[in-house]
Order: sequence, then C-alpha cells, then structure tokens
Amino acid sequence: MQAQEALTMKTQDPRTIYLKDYRQPDFWVDHLDLTVRIFDDYTELSSILSLRKNSDVKGREVVLHGVDQDIQQLMLDGVELTKEHYRQEGEVLSFECANDKAEFKACTRIYPEKNTSLEGLYQSGSMYCTQCEAEGFRKITFFPDRPDVMATFRTRIEADKERFPVLLSNGNPVDKGELDGGRHYAVWDDPFVKPSYLFALVAGKLSEKSSQFTTASGRDVALKIFVEPQNAHKVDFALESLKKSMKWDEDVYGREYDLDLFMIVASDFFNMGAMENKGLNVFNSAVVLATPDTTTDDRFESIEAIVAHEYFHNWSGNRVTCRDWFQLSLKEGFTVFRDSEFTADMHDRAVKRIEDVAMLRAAQFPEDNGPMAHPVRPDSYIEINNFYTATVYEKGAEVVRMIHTLLGADEFRKGSDLYFERFDGQAVTTDDFVACMEEVSGQDLSQFKRWYSQAGTPRIDVTEKWLENEGEYQLIFRQHCPPTPGQTEKQPFVIPVKLGLLNEQGEECQINTDADYNAKTQVLTLRDENTVARFQKLNSKPVPSLLRDFSAPVKLRFDYSNEALAFLAQNDTNGFNRWDAAQQLYLKAILSMANSKQLGKSMKVPAAVLDTVAAIAGDVTLSHAKRAAMLAMPGYPILKDAVDEIHIESLIAARKQLLSTVSRQFRDLWRSLTESLSSDAAYRFDAAESGRRKLQGLCLRYWLNAGDQSAFEHAAELYRRATNQTDRVNALRAILDGDDQALQSSLLEHFYDNWKTDTQMVEQWFSLQTSGQGIKASRVRELMQHEAFDLRNPNKVRSVVLTFAHNAQAFHDSEGQGYRLLAETIAELNTLNPQVAARMVNVLADWKRFAEPVRSRLEDALKQVLATPELSQDVFEMAERALKG
Ligand code: BES
Ligand code: ZN
Repeated sequence: MQAQEALTMKTQDPRTIYLKDYRQPDFWVDHLDLTVRIFDDYTELSSILSLRKNSDVKGREVVLHGVDQDIQQLMLDGVELTKEHYRQEGEVLSFECANDKAEFKACTRIYPEKNTSLEGLYQSGSMYCTQCEAEGFRKITFFPDRPDVMATFRTRIEADKERFPVLLSNGNPVDKGELDGGRHYAVWDDPFVKPSYLFALVAGKLSEKSSQFTTASGRDVALKIFVEPQNAHKVDFALESLKKSMKWDEDVYGREYDLDLFMIVASDFFNMGAMENKGLNVFNSAVVLATPDTTTDDRFESIEAIVAHEYFHNWSGNRVTCRDWFQLSLKEGFTVFRDSEFTADMHDRAVKRIEDVAMLRAAQFPEDNGPMAHPVRPDSYIEINNFYTATVYEKGAEVVRMIHTLLGADEFRKGSDLYFERFDGQAVTTDDFVACMEEVSGQDLSQFKRWYSQAGTPRIDVTEKWLENEGEYQLIFRQHCPPTPGQTEKQPFVIPVKLGLLNEQGEECQINTDADYNAKTQVLTLRDENTVARFQKLNSKPVPSLLRDFSAPVKLRFDYSNEALAFLAQNDTNGFNRWDAAQQLYLKAILSMANSKQLGKSMKVPAAVLDTVAAIAGDVTLSHAKRAAMLAMPGYPILKDAVDEIHIESLIAARKQLLSTVSRQFRDLWRSLTESLSSDAAYRFDAAESGRRKLQGLCLRYWLNAGDQSAFEHAAELYRRATNQTDRVNALRAILDGDDQALQSSLLEHFYDNWKTDTQMVEQWFSLQTSGQGIKASRVRELMQHEAFDLRNPNKVRSVVLTFAHNAQAFHDSEGQGYRLLAETIAELNTLNPQVAARMVNVLADWKRFAEPVRSRLEDALKQVLATPELSQDVFEMAERALKG
C-alpha cells in the first residue's frame, strides 16, 4: 500500500478559480478508449486519449487532471513518459506535446473499495458505480476534466462474472464475452461527444426491468431500470415517469431522445439526488424507488420530477453543455425550469407554482440574504461542488422563467430551438443562451443579464396614490438590491411584474395605462430604479394584486391592511396570489405576536387571520390541494428571513400560539373535515387524490393540536389501517407532534419492526423522528448509534442529522446541544465525505442574524468546524465564507 500513500491529494492550500481566467485548452481530446478491470482490492485503468492540437491557441501543453492515481505507466505516442517528461502538481499532470495529433496512454490503479467520498468510482452496497460531476472523472483516470473538452467514449469493463454479472456504461452495448478465471467483459460505445463529467460505469448483480418508447419520428428506444434484487418491485413508477418525460419533451420542445437505449440505475450510496450521465442515469435509491406502500405523495411527485429533470438534461446539459462550471445554471437553471413546467402540466399548475415559490423563499432567499450570497453565474469559487446551490438552481430557473415571461411561449420556444440547433455538440455560456433569445425576439436583454451577474434578492417597495376626481390610480415602484459579499453597488434589474387591479366586488378592472405594460400577459416591466404606473378611467379605488404567479424572484412590499390581505386571499382571481395573500397575512400576524412577546406583552391572533382560515377551509370552490396550501402556516425559514434580528424563541412561541389558536378555535371544523376527507378507495397518485390526502393530513394535525383525545384515536387508527405511506406518515406526524409518548413509542417500534428491511422506509423512520417537535439532541445521538445508521451513507446522515438541524424548534434548544452535535458530525464527515460535510455547513451560515446568546453559540460551532484537523477544501470554503460573511 506504499504507492497509495504517495498518491496525489486534493490540494491542501485552497486555490480560488476565477471566471475571468477562462482559457481554452491547448489540446482537445477527440476520443477516449477506456478499459476498466475490476479486481477485489483494486481497479486497473488503461486509457488512450486521442489528442488534437487546438488551433485557436498558441501553447503546446497537455494539461490532464488526476486524483488518487497510482501510476503504473504513462506513454505519449508509444514512448514512455517518465518523471522528467511531465510535471505533477496537485491535481494537474502536464507535459509538452510537439505533434498536432498524439496518443496519450495511461495505466493506473485506483481503490474504489476505499473511496468514501462517493465521487469517481466507488462501491455502493454490492455494486460499483461512478459519480463524475463535477470533477470526479479525475479520480478515475487522467483526463482534461473540464466540461469544454468533449470526446466520444468507448469503454471496456472487465470483472468477475459471478459478483458482477451486469456491466454498464454510456451509449450502446457493442460487445461482450467470457474471460479466463470466471471473469467476463462488456464493451460500450457512446457515439455522442460528451464532457468527462457525463461518464458513467456500473457493475453489479442487478435485476433489470425493461420497457419501450417509440419516439415521434418512429424510432424504438429500449428503457431499462437496474436495481439491487430486493428492490425489483419498486421500479414501475419511475419507468412510467420516464415515458411521460420523453413524450413531454417531444411535445413542448420538439426534442427526441437520440440513442436506442436509456438506462437508469438505483444506488443506495449517493451524494445528490440523481445524475444525468449520457444514456445511463444514476439515481439515489430514495428518489427513484417507489411503491404506494413505501412512498408518500410528495415523494412520488419529486421522483417523477427528478426522472424528468435528468432525462431533460439529455438536451439541456448533455447535447449542449457548459463551457466551464461558472455556467452551471445554463444547464441546471434551464432544466429546473423545464422540469417545473413538466410537473405543472402533469398535475396542477398553480399548486406547483406555490410549491416552487415556497421552496425558493425558504432556501434561496436566505442564501441571497447572507454570507453565502453569490450570483446565478458566480465569478469565483474554491470548490465547485459547493456551488450546486439554491441560487444556481432555483433562482437560475426563475431567471429562465422571466425570459419566458418577457418573450412569451412562442418566441421562447423559437429561442430554445435556435439554441439547441446552433450549439448541438458544443460547450457554451449563459450569454450564448440569452443571445439566442435576443435573436429570435428582437429584444435587447443586455440589462436583463444583470440577473446572472448580480447577487441578492431585489426589493420592490410599492406605494399607491388615488386621484378620486380624475379616476386615476397610481402605483409607484421603487427597486433596490441590498449589498452582498463582494458587491456593494447594484444596477437596476429588469423586473416583470404581473399585476391586476380588483374592484370592491373582487372583479378585475380594465387596465388603461401609459406604463410599459403588456395587456396580453398583464405584465408591467420595471427597468429603472423608480417607475410610476398610472391607471386611468377607474370608478373607484382598486385593490392591487401584485407580482401575480410570482413573476420575478423579488421581495415586493406593499403596505396592505390585514383586511386587504384577507380580501385578496378570498377574492383574487389569481390562484397563486390568493395563496400569497394568505401567507402574508399569517406572516404579519406571527411577526407582530413575536414582537409583543419580546416586549413582554401578549397579543391575540388578529380576527382577519381567523376569518380567512375559516373562509378558506370552507371554500369548496378551491381544490383540496389549494386549500391545504392556503391553510399551512409559514415555516421558520420564512419567519427568519423576514426579520432584521432573529429572536428564535419568540418566533417559535408566536408560531405555536397561532397554530394553537387556529387549532382550538376551529376544532370541530378540523374534525369534520378530517373525517369527511377519509377514504377507503384504492391508492392512486394524482393531483386530486394527493390533494385530498394533503388536506386530510393537515386537518388531522390541527385537530390533534387542539388536544382532542378522539383525534389521537383517529390518528392511531389511520396509522393502523393505512394501506399507503402517505396516510401512514400523516398519522405519525400528527401523533409525533402531540404529547402521548406511550403511543409515539409503540407506533415507532411497530414501524421499525415492520419495515426494517426496507431502506427507504428506515430512512423515513429516522426523519419522522428527527423532524418531530419533541426530539432532543441526545435522542439524535442515540439514533446515530442505531444499527441502521451509517455515517458513510449520505441518506442516513441527511435523514438523521440534517433533518434535525432543519427542525428549528428542536435544533435551537436552550443549551446549544444541537449546534455541537452538528459541528461534530461535520468534523467527522470531513474526511469521509467532504462534499456532504460541506453542505451541512449551510445550516450555520445565518449565525450573524441571530440575537445573543444563539449568535455566539452558532459562531462557536463554526469555529469548531474550522479547527478540524486536515480540513477539506470543501468544508474550509463553506465555513470560512460563513464566518467572514
Ligand atoms: N447534475 C445534477 C446532479 C449533480 C449535482 C451531480 C452536483 C454532481 C454534483 C442533477 O442533474 C441534478 O440537478 N440533480 C438534482 C435534482 C434535480 C431535480 C434538481 C439533485 O441531485 O438534487
Ligand atoms: Zn440537473
């Protein structure tokens, strides 16, 4: 093992990478011929790179990346390269090459059995698999591991036939056969050029389920899902989702799948959700395996969306890819927009919009409002893995959505056609994407592009003026964006504000205005710091309904009275804004109640809130799903983001007071709704049924929270009789938030005994407990000692530690036990899995916004993380940024 000790380590002194330093490489790679021989305690790689001089640049240096490569032999055009011929520094191996075409050969060994980072080639349960995005291919073999180097790949895999009967890689299977010693091989050929981050390899004893899709042009595509045998019964839903996605991308974007085979593999050990490797997507088991008995409605929806997302990348990401990692949002923002529209089309558009905006506000707004704020297209990074953020993904998707809004669906489609056609097989930038949209529409989007370069959530303050005599109503908009790290001054954004005006009867007023307003889309476009929109010919003062459908990712403030919000929540014609008005009303109430608690006073829940709750609960014109969304109170991320200084105990107390008043006041209503929403019908996953179950679950929680003994009995009965996981989880959640500890333990024990052999169920069993109201850090420590816990498994870490850290009430206990637990876990994970460890630092990032003593305790936890010996650059970058702001 001596050789292994001397392996190249990830560089110890972190270097910052800048967008402005982008240079094309001196050499391209046209083709990679790769042979992977898997043995019990090492894997041998032989790779042959066909190098071609880049005629656009002068240099002659071949720059390859390699990490943890145990070099056996390197050859250039048949001549061995020895230490005198090449330089090796950190992850880079480089040498001069005099010929315009050359063949580089590397024989190396790697040790997947020891790879706990889950990047590169690693072991996941009984199988071997890979994860290469963003820079994991360099852990497999030497290669210019940058997305602008696109090559065709041919991969030969050799392994023991008994242990690894299934051998997969990208593209088409072209050869297979037997070898000596009980071994066999398979050869795969991928005819499409791709960057190394899209490479994948899987070897294992896997069961296979096949299906088939015929493309619009009549080509037959074989669809296959590979899973470990115990999961063979959990693949049908993903397979159906895949077919829906393929059809949708043909219908909406005119894009067909290009290979004859599309494969999905489920892996229990996976850092992220899923990965779009060409022709061979690899999924975290948790977001692909599903049955009604083990999968909640929410999870079904996200599985469908993630299958779609990864499939959609085949065009938005794979055929057209990113020039460099600063362009990550080019593929991720665009593809999140695409999968979001897909879900909207499959289910309920307004509900999907509500879910997305709730997520954006809970995850991205806080990021933009703290030390981690960065532009959708960042200018610099230390570790690219740290930039798979809510900003790049969710705000990136909002930016694409705004282009869609500004251009309209038809021109947007033309722009995307142009983009796919012009850049097929190339690695490009967000500027290239926007240029296509400009070209087809004739619109100048140069100012709009500030959305890519300026961080921070813009604020829009809106005031009104009513000129009774003229029948004129004015809305005065003022936009400004607070400073973010490294960006003190911001230029005005282009902000599409979709709006309407309502009269007293809740009817839409006819809009007459001289402002930059598009009557067809009802969108007013703001371009300057100040904008005045004058609306004429009105009979009476209207109520404005602003930022409909959340037409821009901004914080819009208008000083509505409680009564106006209650009016909008019940009367707005825009479904999204009805929800948003209700949320604003609840938020205002919680914040003022929290305020008065801080002043040692008490305040009642405002009548407008209770009236609204009653009106919505009884509004049968609203779908169940919409009612559920409108009756849910804002969570802690939203509350924290809305205050200048976080007094967490008063926020918790105020939110509890609101919940308890709403619960008690309408106890009988919650009971009758819960009962009337019950159903014995066979499980179906669709918008109507999942909406019904969502509302049922919410009403049950309110009912139980009212302290009614019969509610406990009802919930326990729902649990016992449940034939689907949604009902089961709804029942358990309600019970776990109550205080019947005997019932809680007996149901939890029952759950585990019944389901302990099902990995997805065990993960849910963990997170049900760690998201419960009463959980203590000491109990989390016990769970970390449980037989089913494994620190090396990211899903287990997430379901136990991260879920707890997001459980505000439990995490911020009075002694800071939770913070210490988190810091210790990060330190322990730092060496095992830096990527997952680094993501957990995010929880501590908003420490400066808390009031004392929480603030100092969080700061201490961060310092504790930074003091970890042999800190990875992943964790270092996150902790350092969080601490310095
Ligand atoms: N390309 C990513 C997966 C990825 C991210 C790999 C970071 C390596 C590092 C994939 O397309 C993706 O975005 N997956 C998301 C789910 C998606 C529905 C937003 C994920 O894994 O969470
Ligand atoms: Zn993606």
